[in-house]
Amino acid sequence: MSAPAARWEFDAIGQRLLAMADELRVFSEERDAYTRTYLSSAHRQASARLRIWMSEAGMSVREDAVGNVIGRLECNKPGAKTLVTGSHFDTVRNGGRYDGVLGVILPVEVARHLRAGGRELPFSLEVVGFADEEGVRFATSFLGSSAYIGQFDSGLLARNDDSGVSLADALIAAGFDPARAGHDTRTFHDLLGFVEVHIEQGPVLLNEGLPLGVVTAIAGASRYRVIVTGEAGHAGTVPMPLRRDALNAAAEMALAVEACAAAQPDRLVATVGKFQLDHAAANVIPGQVEFSIDIRSGDDDCRRQAEQALAAQLHAIATRRNVTIDMTRYHETRATPCAPALQQKWAAAIAAMGLPVRHLPSGAGHDAMMMAGVTEVAMLFVRCGAGGISHNPKETLSAEDAGLAAEAFERFLLAMA
Ligand code: HGY
Ligand code: MN
Ligand code: MN
Repeated sequence: MSAPAARWEFDAIGQRLLAMADELRVFSEERDAYTRTYLSSAHRQASARLRIWMSEAGMSVREDAVGNVIGRLECNKPGAKTLVTGSHFDTVRNGGRYDGVLGVILPVEVARHLRAGGRELPFSLEVVGFADEEGVRFATSFLGSSAYIGQFDSGLLARNDDSGVSLADALIAAGFDPARAGHDTRTFHDLLGFVEVHIEQGPVLLNEGLPLGVVTAIAGASRYRVIVTGEAGHAGTVPMPLRRDALNAAAEMALAVEACAAAQPDRLVATVGKFQLDHAAANVIPGQVEFSIDIRSGDDDCRRQAEQALAAQLHAIATRRNVTIDMTRYHETRATPCAPALQQKWAAAIAAMGLPVRHLPSGAGHDAMMMAGVTEVAMLFVRCGAGGISHNPKETLSAEDAGLAAEAFERFLLAMA
């Protein structure tokens, strides 16, 4: 198998990748923010554009029953195995241009580049655009990759989005049959593994002046929905000692969430990302507040102990403030180690490019966590600019770094060959 192409060819690929990400930016539900949630019309348009790019790259293309977009560069050798790669093409609200989509379009462009150079891989390459990873619309993290590995939870079909549309109805409106959701999965005995290219979404590579990094493990996470119920009342007539103010109770709980992680800053992070108050009015004591908790650690025992301690603290605050609390965990993913052998292949590809090799953990969750349920996984991180910010429109990636990531990916494929 010949050596990879010249660096200038990958620079051109890097430029094209940023242009493709800019094209996908158009497909947003909000005019002044980049928001593409599962099965929205913007999501369907982005899916169509990905399918065009995949077929232009010479791939066979299909959509599965939940809208994952799957491009395949077939190797016709008998018994050929398959390497799966990919990431998600939904976004958070007001998100960035590269979170997820880089891991879909980069392998497509490297496949195009290999084919243009007349080079065939001795295995099939399957590129998956997972349709829902962020879970913004239906609170369904990793819906796409869960369905891809045959673990779709059909109980989700009855779940409604904020406007009361059920997942089943959203699937029907997008042209899918809810009864088939998660049933068209594949077998996995032929897999060489799953690799995901993703922006780091943090400052480590940026601070150390490194364009690429090899992920060692992906932090585990739990997510909770907390409902605090007190009693709405007249802001002018209820004496302070008699109030059952849901907002102040929830505010004290949110600070307890922060303090819980701040006590172990090297091992834990915890976030209250949603904080909602219905029927709000300036002259009404808040009766009910709903908020979210996202808590993560590379060490599952540490995270679970923190969750237990936090639950006890929040219940104690509720009792003292004479309000009730309903705390439900709706999502948990265990910490996921990346396969040493695949990490080694990423490290060798980076070293062969004359770049320093940096291993680092991922605080962000990724579809690779689901794929670890059926095969070995590994991830390549790409430097983010702007302080490493992500889940924010300031998210940036340089064309040069995108090109270096494409070169590393091509070298990785050639090494797998
Ligand atoms: O929340 C995460 O870590 C990922 O962006 N879904
Ligand atoms: Mn994300
Ligand atoms: Mn992501």
